[in-house]
Amino acid sequence: MGTEITLKDVWFHYYPQTESRENWAVQNVSLDFQQGEYVSIIGSNGSGKSSLACLLNGLFIPTEGAFCINGQPITTDQDRWELKRRVGMIFQNPDNQIVAPSVVDDIAFGLENLGVSREEMKYRIPLVLEQVGLSGLEKKEPHHLSGGQKQRLAIAGILAMQPDVIIFDESTSMLDPDGRKHILRLMDELHKSGITIIHITHQATEAFLAERLIVIHQGRIMMDQSSKELYANATLLDQWGLDVPIGILLHQALRDKGWKLSEKMESEEQLVSELWTSM
Ligand SMILES: Nc1ncnc2c1ncn2[C@@H]1O[C@H](COP(=O)(O)OP(=O)(O)OP(=O)(O)O)[C@@H](O)[C@H]1O
Ligand SMILES: [Mg+2]
Repeated sequence: MGTEITLKDVWFHYYPQTESRENWAVQNVSLDFQQGEYVSIIGSNGSGKSSLACLLNGLFIPTEGAFCINGQPITTDQDRWELKRRVGMIFQNPDNQIVAPSVVDDIAFGLENLGVSREEMKYRIPLVLEQVGLSGLEKKEPHHLSGGQKQRLAIAGILAMQPDVIIFDESTSMLDPDGRKHILRLMDELHKSGITIIHITHQATEAFLAERLIVIHQGRIMMDQSSKELYANATLLDQWGLDVPIGILLHQALRDKGWKLSEKMESEEQLVSELWTSM
């Protein structure tokens, strides 16, 4: 049946008793994530993205408001334990996620914590290594892997837990262009396999690869639209300190110069195709 995540009127602060409400890290957020969605959450530094991510995987508890999985409120430690298995998180710095001296041990460590049997591990680990493209590196020391490979190892560790949802919190920001491309491709493949992908980033170009885009600013949700809808209005991103994707700026500059391009673009692919036609 999968995992549907619902936040209703959620507020969160690190020190609720000391600060006024306008400084709370997450303010009055209501969101719903259906199984299988590919969503990006974008916002500038300090806008509340990581705080929201930690609420989504149960690491933080809302100061106020409701957090439900498949309509059931998460209240007990048992609920939270189950949530951790269903909702995995990949962080920004791959070095912080490595705990064991070899690739295989690193994945096994997470499974051991879940009480998965040795037999089952022997079945699952090769499958997830294959899925992330790390087969053959089983015995390698994780610290000798490239940044991109370390992130893929972290993803393999989460995949081995058979999650319904994976949250990527700025997981591409420390990688070189190749490592970044590989992770973005993997996100797309995982989405196609039915896993919900929530990609947190401050890079608008990466964010537009998702189907749905949520803009967060000063702890509040400013926009929640399909990428196609937002692409047509992407210059709005500027007001929240976000870069407008280069394709959109190019589209506008060419129209200003008199090129006959559609007034509204839905994607970079559409722009490329119209440029080919008009040339
Ligand atoms: N551990 C903490 N203790 C107190 N305040 C915090 C803590 N972590 C974050 N904050 C504050 O909460 C607000 C939201 O921070 P958060 O880290 O969620 O934003 P972010 O969008 O992830 O930022 P970044 O782009 O830098 O990762 C900020 O005002 C920040 O200063
Ligand atoms: Mg953050």
